[in-house]
Amino acid sequence: MSFFFVQMTDPQFGMFAFFSELTEDEVEEYRRRELFARHAPEKVTGFADETRLYTQAIEGANRLKPAFVVMCGDMVQNPNDQSQVDELFRITALLDDDIDIHWAPGNADVGNAPTPESLALYRERFGPDNYSFEHDGCHFTVINSSVCFNPKNVPDEWESLVRFLSDDLSKARANGCDDVILFAHHPLFLEDADDADSGFVIPRERRRVILDILHGHEVSAVFAGHWHRNNYAEDGNLQMVVTGAIGYPLGDDPSGLRVVKVDSGVTHRYYAMDHIPDSLEL
Ligand SMILES: [Fe+2]
Repeated sequence: MSFFFVQMTDPQFGMFAFFSELTEDEVEEYRRRELFARHAPEKVTGFADETRLYTQAIEGANRLKPAFVVMCGDMVQNPNDQSQVDELFRITALLDDDIDIHWAPGNADVGNAPTPESLALYRERFGPDNYSFEHDGCHFTVINSSVCFNPKNVPDEWESLVRFLSDDLSKARANGCDDVILFAHHPLFLEDADDADSGFVIPRERRRVILDILHGHEVSAVFAGHWHRNNYAEDGNLQMVVTGAIGYPLGDDPSGLRVVKVDSGVTHRYYAMDHIPDSLEL
């Protein structure tokens, strides 16, 4: 077993325009929260930047020929803006037919506190939000981390997510898979498993439940987005990898994507969009 896949996250069509509306005071307020927004000299309309960046990412994937692409959420800034969704799918269709793309929902796609309606709209467009797939003896599970972030409007969804995750990973282990990797939009934590609650991570109360299931099934890594910059942490043998955005960056990492290699372990590297290689030696 030796293969690699490409992780993308946060193309977020409409975010450049949304952030260009911020006043200098609002930009300062974001920066106080360590979200490095930039004051835009002119208001942006449409999504020319997102189109350019996501097209570069898809063209990069076509050159690299990964086993698959996973998109870890925040596909659009506003799920009620059909033009953003249409542009996302227009560019996604440029991905070579023999490369599958697997979607995970972000908070921009289903809301910070998902509702039955926001989940129904997401599922209609992207398919299931909690599911798994296999490649070459490895198991990959996707969860809807916005339900973990705030399930107050959909408490049953949180309960079914926990049941799904536990059952899915038990089956994967019973089938003797070599490695198990989780994809989610929100990181579980940024520094360590006891991180204080914030808008950036799954709150401790539910983080603990998820982490116990992951450790109980020897999951080797979680790949997330949401923070629009890279971050690396671990909890025991579990790697917690946060990947910078395809779209608008909120830190020093430029827009880019991550290549993840799976063989006797899980290794990975982030590439800025202008530096995606033409091919990869395994
Ligand atoms: Fe995002």
